[in-house]
Amino acid sequence: RVLILLGPPGAGKGTQARLLEEGFGLIQLSTGDLLRAAVAAGTPAGLAAKSVMAAGGLVSDDIVLAILKDRMAAPDVAAGVILDGFPRTDVQAAALDDLLAASGQRVDAAISLDVDDEAMIARVAGRYTCATCGEGYHDDFKRPLHDGVCDKCGGTTFKRRADDTAETARERLKAYHAQTAPLIAHYERLGVLQRVDAMASIDKVAEDLGQIVGGLL
Ligand code: AP5
Ligand code: ZN
Repeated sequence: RVLILLGPPGAGKGTQARLLEEGFGLIQLSTGDLLRAAVAAGTPAGLAAKSVMAAGGLVSDDIVLAILKDRMAAPDVAAGVILDGFPRTDVQAAALDDLLAASGQRVDAAISLDVDDEAMIARVAGRYTCATCGEGYHDDFKRPLHDGVCDKCGGTTFKRRADDTAETARERLKAYHAQTAPLIAHYERLGVLQRVDAMASIDKVAEDLGQIVGGLL
């Protein structure tokens, strides 16, 4: 199974992909996470991606496709995959269709997380994660039960992404509207587009997604 979560920065792609991974045994594949790992490791791809990501632009299709194909070749993704943040351009969408066709597969569902732009800036600008276990938090929407202590692991160090400022979030949103939102029409043509109201609570969105994904498996 191949599912795509489409949506602007802060729409909840990462949050929901992790819940689907737990609930349905699918593998989350986030090109943003893979690129951040490449940046941290200082690989050639990471070095090329670093400044583009910091400015809120899109990393080149060549780099993203190389990273994606590498990850898709690993045996664990055969269980089914949730693509989080990929594809983001028409070139990437066409490459994905070709890659899947080569093994007799196709995109089973592309789910658009529909949201309001201004609310997305607020979600992104307030977010941080536990440096130990990766649990996500938010200054306004999801604080730890005890200030400064992670609910999940008890860790006391937290981190924020370099691109999670209001200013960079606006650039990321622009890139989404210019290059990624047009993919909604591509998946509509393929007959696999679904829409979810992602302004609802995290639990409600998870429930709606669970219904869609449950119907496919
Ligand atoms: P990437 O890592 O993909 O970031 P993004 O698309 O900007 O998405 P985010 O991770 O910011 O948001 P999300 O939708 O996952 O929301 P989340 O669940 O965290 O990409 C980063 C960069 O890498 C790009 O800018 C680009 O440079 C590069 N890149 C990556 N892929 C690429 C590609 N394919 N091609 C080219 N370049 C690429 O939620 C956000 C916050 O809101 C959290 O705090 C969460 O707790 C909260 N929240 C979530 N849902 C709700 C809700 N329903 N109600 C209230 N709060 C909520
Ligand atoms: Zn933790």
